[in-house]
Amino acid sequence: MYYNACLKHDLHYMLRALERPVPREARLAQRLTILVGTMTGTAQLVADEVADAVKARGIAVEVVPMDGLDAAVFEGESAFLLCTSTYGQGDVPDNAQALFADLERTKPDLAQIRYGVIGLGDRTYAQTFCFGGKRFDALLQSLGARRIGEPMLHDASAGTIPEEVAIDWIEPWLDRFRAERDQAA
Ligand SMILES: Cc1cc2nc3c(=O)[nH]c(=O)nc-3n(C[C@H](O)[C@H](O)[C@H](O)COP(=O)(O)O)c2cc1C
Repeated sequence: MYYNACLKHDLHYMLRALERPVPREARLAQRLTILVGTMTGTAQLVADEVADAVKARGIAVEVVPMDGLDAAVFEGESAFLLCTSTYGQGDVPDNAQALFADLERTKPDLAQIRYGVIGLGDRTYAQTFCFGGKRFDALLQSLGARRIGEPMLHDASAGTIPEEVAIDWIEPWLDRFRAERDQAA
């Protein structure tokens, strides 16, 4: 009888704790979402490799293709990596167009968002090198989001493997991400 009462009491408080809104800092600590903009799959490969490295550091991560997304993807989460290539005349890839346009149109307040950028491009396109990543970066900043670290910009004409460059880049980025998280806690 006594134990039943204790159990009920504990359960009551556990359920109350679950109902409480999770503070921004706690959400920042919990999960990283990698949004992928790609035409021919390179950015997806890079995102998957980066996700493995993030997991290995004990941070939960989700890789989400940008297809069909709108600005609502930034609600309820606070830490993002934008991993996107560039097409056309410095455009974001087709699967990123709707998300980009919705952010431009609805102008949500993204002050709670922290993000990093992995931009894929080719310096042969000298006037628009990595504009996909750069345009997302400028747009998120204009909406109040704060970038962690410098963007990674991969040049397909350089002969380096983008996944390898990204794996080297993500380690110091995660150090900064963790430092921000600990500072906020
Ligand atoms: C038709 C076409 C247009 C491109 N336009 C640009 C560009 O304007 N700027 C740039 O930096 N890279 C440009 N690129 C290079 C791609 O962004 C780069 O190859 C990237 O790694 C492709 O990644 P993805 O497979 O994830 O789409 C272009 C590539 C193609 C095929």
